[in-house]
Amino acid sequence: MALQQTLVLIKPDGVARGLTGEITKRFERIGLKIVALKLVRVNMDHAKQHYTEDITERHGEKVRDNLLNFITEGPVVAMILEGVDAIANVRKIVGSTESKSASPGTIRGDFSHVSYSHADEKEIPVKNVIHASADETDAKNETALWFSIDEICDYKRTDECHVF
Ligand code: CDP
Ligand code: MG
Repeated sequence: MALQQTLVLIKPDGVARGLTGEITKRFERIGLKIVALKLVRVNMDHAKQHYTEDITERHGEKVRDNLLNFITEGPVVAMILEGVDAIANVRKIVGSTESKSASPGTIRGDFSHVSYSHADEKEIPVKNVIHASADETDAKNETALWFSIDEICDYKRTDECHVF
């Protein structure tokens, strides 16, 4: 069994649009457990540790710069979710990166619609509401970057008897 923890960020657009409850509900209702949660304003140093040079390698310098400005422009909600195969389950609920291509029913598909080409033309990032760790390595690094051990709570959900 792969019991995993993964990092989710509700990005500044999601917080500013008042989507925190709507988004969090979608994870809770499938049984994923919130083990850490906070509202934070991100400084540039922290942002660069989150969106590393890996973004430049995959998408180019301009996308990373836009993304760093975006993630520091307003508060974000950070949370760690725990559950069986939590990383893949969260990514499934989040949907594809490009909002235009994200399926209805996913968070990105239901709450955003912009295409890469529109974002590039306007020189803005794709404001796709939410971030989720991509794989086990990212989940390990990102949960440690955003939360200290004493901010993570160990408790039982009453519905865990249906999982374990
Ligand atoms: O967030 P996700 O893991 O799905 O995608 P990513 O490839 O790790 O990219 C990180 C973020 O960069 C995306 O969520 C978008 O907000 C942004 N991005 C963008 O603005 N323009 C692109 N061409 C690609 C990504
Ligand atoms: Mg990513």
